[in-house]
Amino acid sequence: MEKISIIGSGYIGLVTGACFAKFGHQIIFNDVNQQMLDDLNKGIIPIHEAGLKELIDDGFQKKLISTTTDKRQAVNNSDIIMMCLPTPPKKDGNADLKYIRNVSKEIGAIMNSSKIIINKSTSPVGTSKMIREIIRHYYHGEFHMVSIPEFLQEGKAVETFINGDRQVLGFENLGNHALIERMKKLFSDLNGEIVLTDTKTAEFSKYVSNAFLALEISFINSLTSICEKLKIDILDVSKILKLDKRIGEKAFLNPGPGYGGMCFPKDVLSIVGISDRFGYTNKLLEVVTEINVRQKEQVFRKIISVPGLNKESRITILGLAFKKDTSDVRESQSKTVIEKLLENGYQNITVYDPVAMPNFKKFNLPISYADSIENSLVHSDCLVIMTEWDDFKSIDLAEIKKLMSSPNIIDSRNLLPMGQARSLGFYYMGMGRN
Ligand code: UDX
Repeated sequence: MEKISIIGSGYIGLVTGACFAKFGHQIIFNDVNQQMLDDLNKGIIPIHEAGLKELIDDGFQKKLISTTTDKRQAVNNSDIIMMCLPTPPKKDGNADLKYIRNVSKEIGAIMNSSKIIINKSTSPVGTSKMIREIIRHYYHGEFHMVSIPEFLQEGKAVETFINGDRQVLGFENLGNHALIERMKKLFSDLNGEIVLTDTKTAEFSKYVSNAFLALEISFINSLTSICEKLKIDILDVSKILKLDKRIGEKAFLNPGPGYGGMCFPKDVLSIVGISDRFGYTNKLLEVVTEINVRQKEQVFRKIISVPGLNKESRITILGLAFKKDTSDVRESQSKTVIEKLLENGYQNITVYDPVAMPNFKKFNLPISYADSIENSLVHSDCLVIMTEWDDFKSIDLAEIKKLMSSPNIIDSRNLLPMGQARSLGFYYMGMGRN
């Protein structure tokens, strides 16, 4: 059993701590947000993730989980410190490391014995080294730095944390066998091949992995317009591509409104930024971002091109989260499309999302929030699907046609049955289909 403190109990921190508690380790969640930790103690989980509440409740019950805003208490009562801190993008695209720097200072000042510091925050090459130098400035004893990037996917975070494809463990000294064996043991409860490497490779591999997946998405999205012009269904093309084992059935080749979320947009920009700093213009990844921006404009254009639609028309947006099964609205594609509609004078917008509405309300946009799919569609002139929630997949098209004023659907996720929609008399436009 390891004693682990989680510094930064956000998305990655909570999932990491909950999953390690499941495997019997002692977890201290630390965060600056007292309210969030109080809620956690009452069983209120700040994020929507399948299975997370059960793991946290169980951890509390077994007395494996505790919380504190006091870093000294967290650090001094643990042997392993996992930093799970935000690294938001700065204006120039580079990751802002201020949280990591500040916490490193605090940890260095507090530490009173040798610890293993694991950086799980997505952070650029050299961050582990930076953390070491900051801590070393304040603490002169021995300690170990390990970089272990997190590859979990939101919406299925617990599942993808435990059943990863790989566990990348980055060490400063690959000759430190005792440390390596200890880390291997800790991570051996999780699935996925254990890869031992240096800290820089571990750090870079996270960005590169996300950039590659984003590239796949922009690749397929770059073909949606031409497929529509050629009257080819992009879903057939995508299926054919995925049957090539070199590409794979899980390839990110599902066309849509572009990628969102806290990782892909910023991680792609971050590689562009670091390449620039070293004098290399990464045109490929610049274009990946450009296509992603353009894809959301395509959705906007499809909406305003619906025959008969005008600025007074009532538009229903279904889905506010950046993908299904999450309440996360960071870099939400819906937000971009809604803002574009508002800027262009389309003021009659009603939205619905099964879990992301409370988070979306924080944007303070002048739109109406409905309490159900059906209510969002009463007197609507156009239904726009923005997130691929399962609830939306099972919409009864014949029933909603009765509720709507005009039967129009823009389906940015290709979620609804196109043939059925058209045979029921809907004007239906997906992405890359005709
Ligand atoms: C991603 C990585 O997958 C994960 O390994 C990393 O740790 C964090 O970043 P996440 O952002 O949670 O995870 O979501 P993901 O499922 O990867 O989707 C990202 C975005 O791409 C979403 O907006 C999604 O809708 C979009 N997407 C994904 C597509 O548009 N098409 C696809 O084929 C796949």
